[in-house]
Amino acid sequence: MAGRFEGKVALVTAAGAGIGAATADAFARQGASVMLSDINAAAGEAHAEALRSEGCKAQFLRCDATNEEEVQALVRKTVETFGGLHIAGNIVGDAHPQASGAEFHLQSLESWEHTFAVSLRSVFLSMKHEIAHMIDNGGGAIANVTSLAALSYVGVSGAAYSASKAGVIRLTKFAAVTYAERGIRVNCIAPGVTPTEAYNKGGVEMGQMVINLLLPFQAIKRPIATSEQATAIAWLCSDEASMITGHTLPVDGGWMANH
Ligand SMILES: NC(=O)c1ccc[n+]([C@@H]2O[C@H](COP(=O)([O-])OP(=O)(O)OC[C@H]3O[C@@H](n4cnc5c(N)ncnc54)[C@H](O)[C@@H]3O)[C@@H](O)[C@H]2O)c1
Repeated sequence: MAGRFEGKVALVTAAGAGIGAATADAFARQGASVMLSDINAAAGEAHAEALRSEGCKAQFLRCDATNEEEVQALVRKTVETFGGLHIAGNIVGDAHPQASGAEFHLQSLESWEHTFAVSLRSVFLSMKHEIAHMIDNGGGAIANVTSLAALSYVGVSGAAYSASKAGVIRLTKFAAVTYAERGIRVNCIAPGVTPTEAYNKGGVEMGQMVINLLLPFQAIKRPIATSEQATAIAWLCSDEASMITGHTLPVDGGWMANH
């Protein structure tokens, strides 16, 4: 399949669903060989199989992105399978159910630590092992995912999620400066209201309520498609963005234009 990522190898975490699955689609349909990973093996394997049935080059490996041994094995397996690693979409991130809502004096330390592990440790571990390979192999491009909750007050997202996603922005900038001269670019996107299963943890009705609560904050008041997030990630990881690094790109229907 011809495209801007022909000859490139991409790795995507959280590729079983939502923005991660759409990112795997964007890389694979534009010619990359893609290693999909997710903690949900059934969903990730099914998505890789769907891409292969379209003629794309895609494999799946189960990986909990909070576990260093598994992340290291994922990077190793990607390189073994496809002969390199040039692009990475580090998409994993989430809030513990008990860390949602503004009033964090009521929330447990455990919910804080879980949220930081999923949203920030995962990005650190992914970048650590991806960059170790990229340094020795001519560079690469990485896109992480932060949140509008890191850029503005979103009470429903909770303090732990907001603070951990702010950490993703700083880690992105830190990596961008540290590794720029070794040919590695690192950016992140900040998605606006992008309906996925992440909204439905308290049920579909509750998910729709949250979407309806948040949408008025966007200037363009419609839900954002996961493919619209993936398009931005793919662009940041492409050679067209060759002078862009350390950047946080809101893909937010103008939410941040209001701040
Ligand atoms: N959807 C939105 O509106 C929105 C807004 C802002 C930020 N984000 C961020 O975008 C990213 C993707 O969110 P989404 O809405 O697509 O979520 P989603 O719930 O649709 O998909 C998340 C995927 O991550 C996987 N996953 C969870 N924990 C994992 C782990 N430890 N290791 C590996 N895989 C794991 C899940 O199995 C699932 O397949 C997250 O970082 C999220 O914080 C989403």
